Amino acid sequence: MSLVDHKHPFELFEKWFGDAKCREADVPEAMSLSSVSPDGKPSSRMVLLKGVDERGFVFYTNCTSRKGQQIQGNSHVALLFHWKSLKRQVRIEGQAVPVTEAEADAYFASRHKDSRIGAWASKQSQPMEGRFEFEKRIAKYAAKYTLGDVPRPEFWSGFRIKPTMIEFWQDRSFRLHERNVYSLQDDGQWEVSTLYP
Ligand SMILES: Cc1cc2nc3c(=O)[nH]c(=O)nc-3n(C[C@H](O)[C@H](O)[C@H](O)COP(=O)(O)O)c2cc1C
Repeated sequence: MSLVDHKHPFELFEKWFGDAKCREADVPEAMSLSSVSPDGKPSSRMVLLKGVDERGFVFYTNCTSRKGQQIQGNSHVALLFHWKSLKRQVRIEGQAVPVTEAEADAYFASRHKDSRIGAWASKQSQPMEGRFEFEKRIAKYAAKYTLGDVPRPEFWSGFRIKPTMIEFWQDRSFRLHERNVYSLQDDGQWEVSTLYP
């Protein structure tokens, strides 16, 4: 099946993501997330894809972090996957919307207890005097939640990137690569076009 035979980009993404899970040595779900500051300066960092379906691509984070604040100021973001073993790249552009409280609670509850403690202890993206300061905070929350459940901090949640554009790039010999772009139309249908590499 040629790439453009897939009517829906999520079908093709699932196929490629499945291939990546089989072939990539480590974290095939790692993706670059780019957001922009209020004055339009872009910044990128890696995050982990924790869910994908026709509604979009989900990741979780501290919402007071630099990325969290940028997204809340401007919800237009870009995602990027590069699966080296497959010589494939997927570029995604779209808008970030918060996941529901129930989704965030369910994912938070699935995390290892130490990661849940870490979510409370980390003032993500804020300056830290030294590692000891962080360790004291970890110890504080570990003591607080020794018994029972660790609740999800209200500042920790997820975003779903609802794509308006998904580009699939496949390496070909002599740099004659294949690029197919799916663009979301006003009527909700996806239009596919092919670009020069
Ligand atoms: C492979 C990888 C996966 C990561 N996954 C996440 C993630 O899912 N969520 C997150 O908040 N940070 C994740 N990080 C850390 C971010 O890259 C970043 O350092 C952190 O979120 C702070 O970014 P910010 O200051 O731009 O908000 C990951 C880093 C790497 C290298």
